[in-house]
Amino acid sequence: MDALLPALLGLRPRGPSRAALTARLGGRVVVVTGASRGIGAEVAGRFARVGARLVLLARDEGALEAVAAGIRRRGGEAAVLAVDLRDTAAATAAADRILAEFGAPELVVSNAGHSIHRAVLDSAERAHDVTRTAGVNYLGPVALLLRLLPAMAAAGRGQVIATSSTIVDIPAAGWSAYAGSKAAFEGWLRAAAPELARHGVALTSLHLPLVRTAMSAATPAYRDAPALRPVDAAKLVARAVVRRTRLWSPWWSRAAGAALQAFPALADGALDGWERRLARDAGAGPGAGAAPDAGSGASEAAPR
Ligand SMILES: NC(=O)c1ccc[n+]([C@@H]2O[C@H](COP(=O)([O-])OP(=O)(O)OC[C@H]3O[C@@H](n4cnc5c(N)ncnc54)[C@H](OP(=O)(O)O)[C@@H]3O)[C@@H](O)[C@H]2O)c1
Repeated sequence: MDALLPALLGLRPRGPSRAALTARLGGRVVVVTGASRGIGAEVAGRFARVGARLVLLARDEGALEAVAAGIRRRGGEAAVLAVDLRDTAAATAAADRILAEFGAPELVVSNAGHSIHRAVLDSAERAHDVTRTAGVNYLGPVALLLRLLPAMAAAGRGQVIATSSTIVDIPAAGWSAYAGSKAAFEGWLRAAAPELARHGVALTSLHLPLVRTAMSAATPAYRDAPALRPVDAAKLVARAVVRRTRLWSPWWSRAAGAALQAFPALADGALDGWERRLARDAGAGPGAGAAPDAGSGASEAAPR
């Protein structure tokens, strides 16, 4: 049963064959944001093994260098570029450096992100939660892409893969800042996709469910919930490269999303009840008590 439930929920995907991934990415420039740990580091390692030339972005230069050193030790190629994507001017400058030093990328994995779990009613003094999540989950990634996409379109090829979240299908209570920022980027990608397709550039959105990383570990309520491992998330990204997927979302997330659209008022009650039950079981969550950050069950990984 322990292995069956994750499989039924689509949490143990198969990746593409090494040959198929090599054909797509061998010798090509691949930009991965949020590559200093978690899903991004796993994706970078997987693509380096098929001969991609990696450009790794995040804020923590030391952690990026450690990921790049691991790749080089195994014979791969990786360069690092430290940038805080909440600074849109810095994101633009990073894109210009990528184009000048490596040319148009074949693939951009727009993966850097930050999640915050905090009740709206605990956020009266925290408008910066909204600007922080919007910065890294939407504004910075768009600023980076606005510079990279014309070069990719001119080359007539390429792909952007965003590691979005099932929060876009199921906007769970307690996650308003995160859900808003992810939905904003999703809307941008959806509108941009048909424009870019004309130029041979595919835009892909992966609605990932819970993944066991530093990000999810910050929320004790999700400790025992079924989840992807980073290696599974990297397989989904790799599969999307080979299939040039437009949108992937687990079957249950799509079904729940459709039901929430059809019955929004019922959905609000169900989502609030679900969040309260999780919070009660874990002794955490909005309004439930134990708090790794700032009281009232709020949580986020490594805020800075
Ligand atoms: N974990 C989950 O349950 C889950 C579920 C669905 C979707 N996702 C999405 O998957 C992506 C990766 O998540 P993860 O679980 O691997 O999280 P993680 O382990 O916390 O890694 C986040 C990455 O983003 C980088 N980052 C954060 N803020 C940044 C900023 N201002 N500028 C540049 N880089 C920044 C971090 O590096 P620095 O701190 O060095 O900057 C790190 O490399 C995120 O977009 C997340 O929303 C995660």
